[in-house]
Amino acid sequence: MATNSLVSIDDISKEEILRILSAAQYFEQNPDHKILDGRVVATLFFEPSTRTRLSFETAVNRLGGRVIGFSDPSVTSTSKGETLKDTIIMVSNYVDLIIMRHYLEGAARYATEVTDVPVINAGDGANQHPSQTLLDLYSIYKTQGTLENLTITMVGDLKYGRTVHSLLMAMRYFNPTFRFVACNELQMPQEYIRFCDDNGIAYTVHSDFSEAVIDTSDIIYMTRVQRERFTDIMEYERVKDLYNLRNSMLVNSRPNLRILHPLPRVNEIDRDVDDNPKAYYFQQAKNGLYARQALICRALGIEVPIVNK
Ligand code: CP
Repeated sequence: MATNSLVSIDDISKEEILRILSAAQYFEQNPDHKILDGRVVATLFFEPSTRTRLSFETAVNRLGGRVIGFSDPSVTSTSKGETLKDTIIMVSNYVDLIIMRHYLEGAARYATEVTDVPVINAGDGANQHPSQTLLDLYSIYKTQGTLENLTITMVGDLKYGRTVHSLLMAMRYFNPTFRFVACNELQMPQEYIRFCDDNGIAYTVHSDFSEAVIDTSDIIYMTRVQRERFTDIMEYERVKDLYNLRNSMLVNSRPNLRILHPLPRVNEIDRDVDDNPKAYYFQQAKNGLYARQALICRALGIEVPIVNK
């Protein structure tokens, strides 16, 4: 595995996370710094995406690199039966970095085992989405002024939601308190509950998205119930509309509260929340550009200037 690959948020230390956030801050101030010197990056998306693919590709373009890739595997030789292994080996002949989203958990880890080109995991099934986590951490830091000692409420699909899994793991360095709000079918999986127990992370589990939970949160992290992860469509229909955030529910919330969502949303956040200054999900997606510029530089071993605070 290339040392600068990023497959799981668990692959990077607290110091590295802080370095990446500092680099993201640099790129927010200098988004067009051309430091890729024409290097070529592949974006291989075996699953649909709007934000992740387009922000990675914008990041490469703004840094002066070039992008090849696909967003629809049906137009590639995958549709003729070419394996993932062969695809990765072939693409490695052409590029300096591979950014890949795949529907199978573990696909990104597997890719790192068959190539020496660095790989960034842009989401593998219900497993991990580490670049999303870096932009989430950057958004939390920007809005709260710290990552330490925050109360973070995660709501919705905590079972299949790879963004909440990655964020939970990354926050272990910063003494968080978590609230997990979900129905039984979509609660946080046992392996992540164990992770909290093993790392001394405080958490409570709720089925009710109550005023008491909302009014004592610093961050509410809403998630979509992902139809594409269900094998039983009736089960999806039963749980898809259980949690919905409306503007009226925020009346007594903390002044510093910010509402995050990895997006896309369906109906879990009412449109009437969008104009509330505590709604931060669109700015959060914009922060993805800067965080991904930082991650691309890390993967390619390119040093980013330190920000003057
Ligand atoms: N947050 C996120 O991964 O969005 P996309 O699926 O649009 O890339």
